[in-house]
Amino acid sequence: MIQEQLKSIDSTTNALNMMLEVAAPLSTEIASDMTNTYDSIVYKTSSLLERHSNLEGTDQLLFFFAVAIGSRDSDTGNHCERLVKIGSEFGAYLQLSPLEIRNLNWGAYLHDIGKIATPDAVLLKKEKLTPDEWEIMKQHAVIGEKICQPLASTKGVLPIIRHHHERWDGSGYPDGLKGHEIPYIVQVFQIIDIYDALISERPYKKGLSPELAIALMRKEAEAGWRNPELTEKFAEFIRKKAENP
Ligand SMILES: [Fe+2]
Repeated sequence: MIQEQLKSIDSTTNALNMMLEVAAPLSTEIASDMTNTYDSIVYKTSSLLERHSNLEGTDQLLFFFAVAIGSRDSDTGNHCERLVKIGSEFGAYLQLSPLEIRNLNWGAYLHDIGKIATPDAVLLKKEKLTPDEWEIMKQHAVIGEKICQPLASTKGVLPIIRHHHERWDGSGYPDGLKGHEIPYIVQVFQIIDIYDALISERPYKKGLSPELAIALMRKEAEAGWRNPELTEKFAEFIRKKAENP
């Protein structure tokens, strides 16, 4: 199944063709039984495009699909919008360049775009995934990179798309990168992504307070999953933010 997925990506000469191929069934499915979801995708995409008015042509289409894919696995709510806000603030705190902050913001929308190739049976499964299903799920990082690779505008976002599930101790995927082998922009993205996931309410859990979220992130850093130094910088950023809201 994975090979078939990858073959279909390899045989696609550019990302646009692939997106157009999947667009028809996706929009039919949405229009037939999820009108509200469709409306919400259109609404979210148009407000996104308003805020990023320099996006045009293929990039607009790319963002439309990113929003549509995010809506398939709808637990995430406004996760992307919140990531853009906190990413811009933490990026400025770390004195990242405007281009790096822009890549971080695009990463918020595009990091899971490879899930376009993840079947519903795997993506939406409530029970624990089997080892084979887990392998399929993990492919979204590589597939997402392949989708965006032909687009010059996403060059700086590709590391986030491919490596957002790597872990500091090398136990992540797809490449098992360790420590500073994980690009810095990806490490920053991971920190804000996990923080937002922890503080957000989901249908199956309450949101944690910032203090509890930071405590849990420190535990994960101690367990070897994330850069401890950057985790501390983030804790300091959150503390200062609370002091000067
Ligand atoms: Fe992901």
